[in-house]
Amino acid sequence: MSYDLTVLYGSVRRDRKGIRAARFMMQELAARGHAPTLIDAQEVDLPLLDRMYKEYDPGTAPDNLEAMAKVLKASDGFIVVSGEYNHGIPPALKNMLDHFLEEWFWRPSGIVSYSMGPYGGVRAAMQLRMTLAELGMPSISSLMGIPQVHKAFEEDGTPTDDAWHRRAGRFLDEFEWYVAAQKAQRALGTPR
Ligand SMILES: Cc1cc2nc3c(=O)[nH]c(=O)nc-3n(C[C@H](O)[C@H](O)[C@H](O)COP(=O)(O)O)c2cc1C
Repeated sequence: MSYDLTVLYGSVRRDRKGIRAARFMMQELAARGHAPTLIDAQEVDLPLLDRMYKEYDPGTAPDNLEAMAKVLKASDGFIVVSGEYNHGIPPALKNMLDHFLEEWFWRPSGIVSYSMGPYGGVRAAMQLRMTLAELGMPSISSLMGIPQVHKAFEEDGTPTDDAWHRRAGRFLDEFEWYVAAQKAQRALGTPR
C-alpha cells in the first residue's frame, strides 16, 4: 500500500548535516513504494512566525505557506527529522510547525532525531513529542535516533553502514501501521 508521506526537516544552517538523514528517509520511503515529499525549511524559507496560515483570509496567504498547506492536507503521515540545539528543538523546525495547526491533525508522526555527538538528539526528541501531540499528530512509540549523523550518511543520504536500512525498516513498519490505521479511521470522519 502506498501512502502520501511528508518528511519535515528544519535546519537552515549553511553547514547543516541533518539533510543527510532527511535524504536517507526519503530514499527509504520511496523504496517501500510511497510517494514522499520533503519539506525543507531552507527551501520553504518561512519568516519567523507573524501570522499562522489559518489567520490569512482564504486565498491571501503567501505562496510558500499556501504550497506547504496543500502538501500537509494531502499527507497521510509525517516523518519529522530533528536535530538538537542546546538540548532543544531547532528553531527553524519549531517555526515551521507553528505556522500550521489543523493542517497537521489526525495523522501520525514519527521522529528521526540526530546529532553530531553520541546521543542522537534524543533530548530534543523528547520535547518534540510534546509539541507533536499538541499539534494533533502524536508520534509513534519508536524513535529513530542517529548519533554522529555526519558519519552515518554521505551527503546524498547513502548510509555508511547497512544496519541503517534494517533500523529504518523496523521504524517504518511501525509508522506505516499507524498511518494505515488512522487513514482508515479518517475515512469514517473526525470528531467535532
Ligand atoms: C546552536 C547549536 C546547538 C547545538 N546543541 C547541541 C546539543 O545540545 N546536543 C548535541 O548533541 N549537539 C548539539 N549541536 C551539534 C549538532 O548536533 C550538529 O551541529 C548538527 O549537525 C546540527 O544539525 P544541522 O546540521 O542539521 O543543523 C548543536 C549545534 C548548534 C548549531
